[in-house]
Amino acid sequence: MVHYTVYLSKASEGTDTAAIKSIVEKSKENNLNSGISGILFYKDGYYMQYLEGSREAVDSLMTAIKSDTRNTEVKEVLSGVSRDKLFSGSMEFIDLENISGQESALHGVKAEEISLTGLTQDTALVMDIIRHFAG
Ligand SMILES: Cc1cc2nc3c(=O)[nH]c(=O)nc-3n(C[C@H](O)[C@H](O)[C@H](O)COP(=O)(O)O)c2cc1C
Repeated sequence: MVHYTVYLSKASEGTDTAAIKSIVEKSKENNLNSGISGILFYKDGYYMQYLEGSREAVDSLMTAIKSDTRNTEVKEVLSGVSRDKLFSGSMEFIDLENISGQESALHGVKAEEISLTGLTQDTALVMDIIRHFAG
């Protein structure tokens, strides 16, 4: 079984493109080894990440992320189990501040108008958007 989880967190003060790039590069490398895949979204100082893999790998990564000073206020939005993984790679990254023409991916919501804190109130929509980027 694949265990998956989605969380929302606040990027620490001073987070810039270089800081995000370094997280994403390290994640791609580590996740290949731990069998984790997923997608990280960034918008207006917030992260939303979908992680999938073995329960042990996902739990241990969540523990690392919760204690990572590059983010705070880590809140689990949803979690569950499924038969198959949605993503085949290691970690996708979507910068919602630099994305255009993706209204279909975001189910009609303009990327500029989306707020990750607002979005996570609707867990069905969260999963629809994640599935869109996986497909
Ligand atoms: C928003 C955010 C997302 C992260 N996502 C991942 C991830 O998908 N995989 C990963 O290995 N580390 C991720 N990290 C980094 C971990 O918190 C931690 O620094 C890293 O796993 C430690 O790796 P190391 O032991 O190889 O140095 C993330 C950190 C932040 C702030």
